[in-house]
Amino acid sequence: MLFPEYRARRLRRSDVMRRMVRETHLRVDDLIYPMFSAFGTNIKQEIPSMPGIYQQSIEHIVAEAKEVYELGIPAVILFGIPEEKDPMGKDAYSDSGIIQETIRAIKKEVPGLMVITDVCMCEYTDHGHCGVIKDGDVDNDETLKLLAAEALSHAQAGADIVAPSDMMDGRIAALRTILDENDFSHIPIMSYSVKYASAYYGPFRDAADSTPQFGDRRSYQMDPANRVEAFREAALDVDECADFLMVKPALAYLDILRDIKERFDLPLVAYNVSGEYSMVKAAAEKGWIDYDRVMMETLIGMKRAGADLIITYHAKDAAQLLKG
Ligand code: PBG
Ligand code: ZN
Repeated sequence: MLFPEYRARRLRRSDVMRRMVRETHLRVDDLIYPMFSAFGTNIKQEIPSMPGIYQQSIEHIVAEAKEVYELGIPAVILFGIPEEKDPMGKDAYSDSGIIQETIRAIKKEVPGLMVITDVCMCEYTDHGHCGVIKDGDVDNDETLKLLAAEALSHAQAGADIVAPSDMMDGRIAALRTILDENDFSHIPIMSYSVKYASAYYGPFRDAADSTPQFGDRRSYQMDPANRVEAFREAALDVDECADFLMVKPALAYLDILRDIKERFDLPLVAYNVSGEYSMVKAAAEKGWIDYDRVMMETLIGMKRAGADLIITYHAKDAAQLLKG
């Protein structure tokens, strides 16, 4: 294949030709939309660093869930902002907790929408860490008990998929065991398998009110410099019977997405995190980039890297564009 006989530009000459040779597609079915459910009524507070994304009380969450469903987006992932936080994060596994109430409300009004729940302690603990604190650090094995109780409670409230984001060792097995023992063997676990200790979560922590009050998350989330460690994390989750794997964040970790896709057979999720969304929104607001095009290019890049599904704050905007 040598120039001038071979000319690569022949296949790029028209839109219809480009469509025929396109290798990767973004579909509305690939999208998962994150939502922040806040205790109270009549709350709809925009997150300053995340234009278009709100902390909302349940009636507003349900209204937006309907909109998401009508756009054809298959699933939402829920985060909770409870009435009260305490050292043990009790609201996380309470039957009347913010997420449990939200799940029931969505499933009642929009039963066809998949409800995924984030399973972690940091939104519910007063210290903001992802588990129970002992001697100044998160105690792994004690935290597993609370995460298991939280996941079970979400399933009992009607969650379709549970998604642990805590990065404790052994959490997938702990969740699988408690779910199976309680007749929830049909509920899949979407593991945040490869989750880095990232500054890109900054805007989310404003949204979820979950900034650690001391220290940081580096004793449980991964070092951004590591790649081989990601394979060990994913392998553990596969052994413990995870149903989905995830790489988070996405944009600075596209190589990891590709690597995990090539090594493991489970459906792979990319989390296009808060800071990635904020950067695009901010640059677009300044008129420096074309929002629609940069958004779609970013999402297709994640799919090309190997993502089957993308959790993204852009989901509604992207779905609208895909509808044409
Ligand atoms: C909770 C959790 C976080 C995110 C998802 N689940 C924050 C964190 O670990 O600090 C981040 C999502 C985002 O930035 O969009 N553990
Ligand atoms: Zn957490």
